[in-house]
Amino acid sequence: MAYLLALDQGTTSSRAIVFDADGAMVAVSQQEFEQHYPKPGWVEHDADEIWRTQRDVAVEALAKAKLKPADVAALGIVNQRETLVVWDRKTGEPACRAIVWQDRRTAAMCRQLKDAEPTFRAKTGLLLDPYFTGTKLTWLLDNEPGLRERAEAGELAAGTIDSWLVYKLTGGARHVSDASNASRTLLLNLQTTEWDHELLDILRVPEAMLPEVVDSSGVCGEAAGVDGLDGIAIAGLAGDQQSALFGQACFEQGGAKNTYGTGSFLLVNTGTEVTASQQQLLSTAAWRIGGVTEYALEGSVFVTGAAVQWLRDGLGIIKQAPDVEALANQVPDTGGVYLVPAFAGLGAPHWDPDARGALVGLTRGTTAAHIARATLEGIALQSVELAEAMRADTALPIDELRVDGGAAANNTLMQIQADLLQARVIRPKVTETTALGAAYLAGLAVGVWSDRADLAKHWQVDREFEPQISADEAAAKRERWTHAVERAKGWATD
Ligand code: G3P
Repeated sequence: MAYLLALDQGTTSSRAIVFDADGAMVAVSQQEFEQHYPKPGWVEHDADEIWRTQRDVAVEALAKAKLKPADVAALGIVNQRETLVVWDRKTGEPACRAIVWQDRRTAAMCRQLKDAEPTFRAKTGLLLDPYFTGTKLTWLLDNEPGLRERAEAGELAAGTIDSWLVYKLTGGARHVSDASNASRTLLLNLQTTEWDHELLDILRVPEAMLPEVVDSSGVCGEAAGVDGLDGIAIAGLAGDQQSALFGQACFEQGGAKNTYGTGSFLLVNTGTEVTASQQQLLSTAAWRIGGVTEYALEGSVFVTGAAVQWLRDGLGIIKQAPDVEALANQVPDTGGVYLVPAFAGLGAPHWDPDARGALVGLTRGTTAAHIARATLEGIALQSVELAEAMRADTALPIDELRVDGGAAANNTLMQIQADLLQARVIRPKVTETTALGAAYLAGLAVGVWSDRADLAKHWQVDREFEPQISADEAAAKRERWTHAVERAKGWATD
């Protein structure tokens, strides 16, 4: 039996999962690491801590599975995207802390660059927002003493977390990034998957700092000088959301997945041509395999699981997050209540940082159960908005949505999602699809699986949810929701 090792380097924890050749999970290991908030709006990670925790969980997962490096056909890396690491090419020392995707320190820079936004939008498929890597790198080169000189002298390397982990795993031999990660930097031309000189000039980034862009599936190095992992081929790299799309076997144009975490990420496969969004969605590289890039449209909802946490911690109407399902099921409907969980503003397709949460339609008859149910509907309706934007951009039907992440276990939420989306919602047996995507990409590269059809055979359905309300009923709810969202917009005064 061949085994694959998936390294899933996330925003709050490093995880490693061993999969067998049937795509079944054999062993898991996980470690959380420290979040640093040096100033309001700033979020940093210690890149060395990321490396240590990721290495340790990988070794531990292999030990749990009673495997040696020689038993592992290949490893794949998937990661939190957009986070920037800069390090010394010779010593491998990080030049400073990693700047995390959530960090907002470059908001003013993005505003100043607004005139260039159409250029960035056309070339990268992204918006000019502090979320992405590019302005973080400009900020470091401008603000960390000595960094620009060292970068121009060729002493420094920059990259996203995939680059950093490959560099460390290979003992400094390889400085690469895959097309899906590179497409989140604001520096990559999405069509050619090459670094774009005009964009590098605008952001004043020396190209010599940047990694070589490689395929998402393909051997790009070998672990060397790392006890317990030596000799394992590194054969898969991807951003975590793109990896989940792959792990959900959404290989065809129109295949869509939604990951329910703290927030949600909805991606639809748009095939081998870039689809420019008219709906404020992001165009992104899904993966590059055999030199061929496939693309996706992406939308994100900032608050999903966080809304359920608010019911628990803010309102105290449930003890634990999973209790929301039983509470919501005490009532057949929300009694006309809508909750717009815009606690941190609204993402795609609204992009309103000043929006705030709204709870509307309250009456004397409203109970905690109605609010719990309205929370689940609010989570689902935000994803419906994204899917509708994707339908408008692509003319793809999106008649099936594959789901994963913590809240995908909530059957009531999944039924509500199917009802309001008017599409089939499918939950797979393995919901660790981010890590599974890494295993698939790596296994495909080294011949554990022959092709995508072979992979699709291993992907198994746990449960399907069919819409149980009419299209008219769904449309009426959707319209009321739009009114509620309008009330939430532009609310912040600070
Ligand atoms: O774009 C950010 C995303 O990749 C973060 O994912 O799951 O590590 O929080 P996660």
